[in-house]
Amino acid sequence: MKRVIIVGSPRSNGRSAHLAEMLFEANIDECPEDELFLVPVSEIEVGPCIGCGACRKKSEVIFKGEDGAEASEMRHRCVFDDDMQTLYDVLDDADELIVVSPIYFSGAPAPMKCVLDRLQPYFWASREKDLDARLAEKRPATLHVLGEGGDPHGYDALVSEVRSATAVAGFRLERVLDWVGKIGQDGEITGEPTPVEGVLAPPRKPAEKPKLDLGANRSRQAQGKGHDKGRGGQSGHGQSGRGQSGRGGQSGHGQSGRRQPGKGKRRG
Ligand SMILES: Cc1cc2nc3c(=O)[nH]c(=O)nc-3n(C[C@H](O)[C@H](O)[C@H](O)COP(=O)(O)O)c2cc1C
Repeated sequence: MKRVIIVGSPRSNGRSAHLAEMLFEANIDECPEDELFLVPVSEIEVGPCIGCGACRKKSEVIFKGEDGAEASEMRHRCVFDDDMQTLYDVLDDADELIVVSPIYFSGAPAPMKCVLDRLQPYFWASREKDLDARLAEKRPATLHVLGEGGDPHGYDALVSEVRSATAVAGFRLERVLDWVGKIGQDGEITGEPTPVEGVLAPPRKPAEKPKLDLGANRSRQAQGKGHDKGRGGQSGHGQSGRGQSGRGGQSGHGQSGRRQPGKGKRRG
């Protein structure tokens, strides 16, 4: 069994780090045979997704096969050469994902959001007809939520962000544990986490791409029937919806160059 613990705090010695270390140690005690990776976002270099759309296309990825020999395969990958490349490999191999993340204004802290957004190559992979078995499998994921509880707006955004991004990468968020207000400044546990119910409703069907009948609109304009009517008032014209906008985009991505190799902790 291979497990990955991603720690979403920009601080390397905060509550999340303490909790993740505790989970790491507990896992070693309980499942000494497991291979375990601890990946604190505070210790890796992962830049933001810029929506360039380059990951729509497959590129050659070199990896170690089961027998330890180098193999290569065409996969959807981000073109930025930073620690995310190592994290893709670790996630591809994982049987289970654990995310430990603080709440920042209801959502994920920026470095954690960078990691989540950089899972976009899996979105394109998940649309392939010959879907990779690993992505189809839906491996289990758990989210541990931390916060001070001073903000009254909850953390729905954090749950949704983690759930949505990890789903395309082949995970199913099965458990959310609420540690808000239950871990002290120095990492001491002051209470039991609460399992969160009701945040894991079945995903909605993706929005349909709106069909625009431009021909009909043009002929109306040609007949001089006023532009007021042409402004979204007729049979769904001018619908914005979620459609496909924002997916993919322009090329012209600037390479960042490799910075540091992944510094995640590994056992196994
Ligand atoms: C920018 C920012 C926004 C925050 N927003 C929230 C929030 O909405 N809800 C909450 O309970 N705590 C919030 N917090 C508190 C953090 O979640 C809390 O300090 C947590 O312990 C930070 O994680 P860490 O100790 O692992 O770094 C916020 C902290 C920061 C810096």
